[in-house]
Amino acid sequence: MPDPRVASGPVLEVRGLSKSFFGITVLQDAALTLMPGEVHGLVGENGAGKSTLMKLLAGVHQRDSGEILLGGEPVDFGHPTQAHEAGLSTVFQEFNLLPDRTVAENIFLGREPRKGPLVSRALMNSQAAQLLDSLGIASIRPTTQVRALSVAEQQIVEIAKAVSFNARVISMDEPTAALAGPEVELLYQIIARLKQRGTAILYVSHRLREIFDLCDNITVLKDGKVVATRPAADLDDASLVRLMVGRPISAYFPDKLPSGPDARDRAPLLELAGAGNGQLDAITLSLRPGEIVGVAGLQGSGRSELLQAVFGAAPFTRGRMRVNGREFLPRSPRQAIRSRIAMITEDRKAEGLSLNQSILDNALSVVRAVMPGNTPSARRNVPGVFSSLEVVARDLDQEVQYLSGGNQQKVVLAKWLAISPQLVLLDEPTRGIDVGAKIAVYQLMRQFAAEGKAVLMVSSELPEVIGMSDRILVLHDGRLAGELPAGATEEEVLKLATGARGEEQP
Ligand SMILES: Nc1ncnc2c1ncn2[C@@H]1O[C@H](COP(=O)(O)OP(=O)(O)OP(=O)(O)O)[C@@H](O)[C@H]1O
Ligand SMILES: [Mg+2]
Repeated sequence: MPDPRVASGPVLEVRGLSKSFFGITVLQDAALTLMPGEVHGLVGENGAGKSTLMKLLAGVHQRDSGEILLGGEPVDFGHPTQAHEAGLSTVFQEFNLLPDRTVAENIFLGREPRKGPLVSRALMNSQAAQLLDSLGIASIRPTTQVRALSVAEQQIVEIAKAVSFNARVISMDEPTAALAGPEVELLYQIIARLKQRGTAILYVSHRLREIFDLCDNITVLKDGKVVATRPAADLDDASLVRLMVGRPISAYFPDKLPSGPDARDRAPLLELAGAGNGQLDAITLSLRPGEIVGVAGLQGSGRSELLQAVFGAAPFTRGRMRVNGREFLPRSPRQAIRSRIAMITEDRKAEGLSLNQSILDNALSVVRAVMPGNTPSARRNVPGVFSSLEVVARDLDQEVQYLSGGNQQKVVLAKWLAISPQLVLLDEPTRGIDVGAKIAVYQLMRQFAAEGKAVLMVSSELPEVIGMSDRILVLHDGRLAGELPAGATEEEVLKLATGARGEEQP
């Protein structure tokens, strides 16, 4: 039962909230009101201050000024645990799970169910199972080590954990950044259930479709200030983007290259013939210079594994691979990088960046490690790359950990550009980056193609795959389920991805 005292008024009110880091104001005089059962969208460009606002609410950071009222009572949390106990929980943008512990241990960390003085694993596992079950999560077992879960599954565990606190308010910071179609659907259902219980949700996402699907009201942050709070019904994509970036945006995806007959005739840059390993089988494909090829498929279909294999991180054990017509089957990323194959991954924390090093050191890390002779020239190019990606940072000596999530992703891109790749493998390249930066990345991909490089891109965002690809390869169960031309519909892609068969002929 919702507390009647709460149900009558706002469950969360924020007034005059300000915060600065190292003398730079990142949030200024922010105000926000959430009613019980309301889903409130919080949007804005990378570095606008969305995560900072959530961290102030959660007690991760301390505010410089302003008021936070929960159920009408002023609160002042020194630590996220206090926020949880008061009924405010948060799904953070960066994962906070302990990889060596099980799902159940992570959910109940610090509040393990006990029998007498002892932690009861049996009780903990059964309560976790109950929780996952009540949220309709069938695929994750409480006893599995978090390390063994996919990024998407870890995200689902984070969400389940936040829900388990019986919160009155749940903040979610880009909860779908790692999720694909069916899991996003699962999150929608979880949110619908929470809404019914009267839980208020503060929802941060760069995916406008979700914002409009889920939110009752939308607050736009720009440069740390609230520029508007409106009912979602009063806004559309164009008007919202305009509020976020301060200018209208015409073409989201750049034009595809005119693919004349000569493009088809060019010698392939990458060829695979009957390639396979533990996760993949019978992969045959060829990629020509100047092409952007999208790889679609459900989570677990082998999309990322395909890129990992080409990159030598999880090499093929069968079949053949050629690069520029020469047999080349990289046994390690180092070998792949030497052949100017770049791989931009989805998990910037684990694979992409050294958070406690500077932007510049991160940008040069691959070049230094693999082709040290090229470091000076790469170093000269770094400032240009960063300004074309519109990285928001104090300077290039700033530690990466202090950048916003989206700006960290741009640093990952920059460090791979530094090797001047001929083949670029992209795994969820725009995860977590804002509309303006997304467009910059799309243009960059097109520029690659125009320079005669080739791009192989995995993305869970179908509009992105369709909008960017000259051809789309669809994977299902580790095999190629089919190929679609540019301009294919989401339905066609999904049909192949789910392994749905064509109409039976009588
Ligand atoms: N701990 C910190 N120390 C210094 N600066 C910080 C810290 N946390 C955030 N910032 C800065 O505050 C600004 C706002 O960052 P924040 O993470 O809130 O942005 P965001 O809106 O969540 O962006 P994104 O969409 O990229 O996640 C950025 O300029 C960031 O560099
Ligand atoms: Mg953020």
